[in-house]
Amino acid sequence: MSMIVDPGLEQVVAARTRLSDVQGGSGRLTIAGFALEDIAHRATFEEMVYLLWRDALPNRTELQSFTRSLGEARSLPDQTLDLLRAAAERRAALMDALRMGVASLDVEDDSEQQSMNLVSQSASIVATYQRLLNGDAPVPPDRSLGHAANYLWMLTGEVPDPEHVRALETYLNAVIDHGLNASTFAARVIIATGSDLVSALAGAVGALKGPLHGGAPGPALDMVFEIESADRAEAFLRAKLERGERLMGFGHRVYKVRDPRADVLAGATRRLYHYGSGDAALYELAIDVERTALRLLEEYKPGRNLQTNVEYYTALLLHCLGFPVSLFTPTFAISRTAGWIAHCREQIETGKLIRPSSHYIGPNDRVWKEADDRE
Ligand SMILES: CC(C)(COP(=O)(O)OP(=O)(O)OC[C@H]1O[C@@H](n2cnc3c(N)ncnc32)[C@H](O)[C@@H]1OP(=O)(O)O)[C@@H](O)C(=O)NCCC(=O)NCCS
Repeated sequence: MSMIVDPGLEQVVAARTRLSDVQGGSGRLTIAGFALEDIAHRATFEEMVYLLWRDALPNRTELQSFTRSLGEARSLPDQTLDLLRAAAERRAALMDALRMGVASLDVEDDSEQQSMNLVSQSASIVATYQRLLNGDAPVPPDRSLGHAANYLWMLTGEVPDPEHVRALETYLNAVIDHGLNASTFAARVIIATGSDLVSALAGAVGALKGPLHGGAPGPALDMVFEIESADRAEAFLRAKLERGERLMGFGHRVYKVRDPRADVLAGATRRLYHYGSGDAALYELAIDVERTALRLLEEYKPGRNLQTNVEYYTALLLHCLGFPVSLFTPTFAISRTAGWIAHCREQIETGKLIRPSSHYIGPNDRVWKEADDRE
């Protein structure tokens, strides 16, 4: 049988999914039947999770019960708290602490309870660890708050502003699922062996941590900071392109038109700044930098269709919420956890082990020699 070698698996369709559809050519992202721009700014995070896991939006009673169950699953077991304290003493990076924290959670027999625990506790791990790193006491979860509000509460110990909750929730909704991306594929490979959700998610966090996946929101923000003022933007960006460098926050492997998540996040970020949160001067500068960058990218890379990607506005939105750069990827992870779990459930339904082939390119004619006879 002749086989095609495709190291990046770009041409391989490895799963059927009803969860999300990424149409790179037209810039459409569909989440369980909804256009992202129709749902991200309206739904609570709990509604998005319910939609992915149950393939329908909950009615009022179902939503209340689901929200309550997620809220009750937030407390971390002692072994996880001990581990986070030890990691903070060693100043482990947040994504490493999240990977270790997830891996330390108990494996449950009941997959529904396990799913709830993983979504709720991954947020608790990040918020708790961030406080420990800063030398602050962890803030216990508040069951009366929704997922996004509770995350802000556990990070700051302050009752969150509803506008901030809405902005964060829009962000979490916008990145909850995105086709068969690398971390989702990693989770599906692990669960397909008959392993458990804790193991699948620990692997997925590991995959998301890589700079080619977890993204570049930090460098995108650094670039805006470095430009400092709008009148420096053109010279700065032109010099970068002349040196053959890439502009962070622009271009995408799949989207060849504007990333629909960038639009959704741009709207949420605009709203936050107009509301009076964050640094309005930085926001205006970022808009100017974006306009100049798009013009110069068309000049230097004509026909490549390089557009603003999700990372650019992720950086602005999370910065405006007061998040340090180190929290950007972990916050992405706590949303994507719900998507990973939804994919694991689909994969379990197939009952199929994922086991691609490899093409051997080594020798076939080696002759065994005892250790003493080897050169
Ligand atoms: C995301 C990314 C890796 C996708 O890359 P890709 O689909 O593999 O595209 P390619 O690397 O084939 O690039 C195609 C062309 O566009 C150029 N290009 C791509 N992104 C660019 C960017 N951000 N700035 C300047 N040039 C860029 C490449 O240099 C290449 O030019 P060439 O044809 O003259 O060689 C790439 O756009 C990038 O590095 N962007 C910046 C980092 C970033 O924002 N990452 C977050 C992604 S969500």
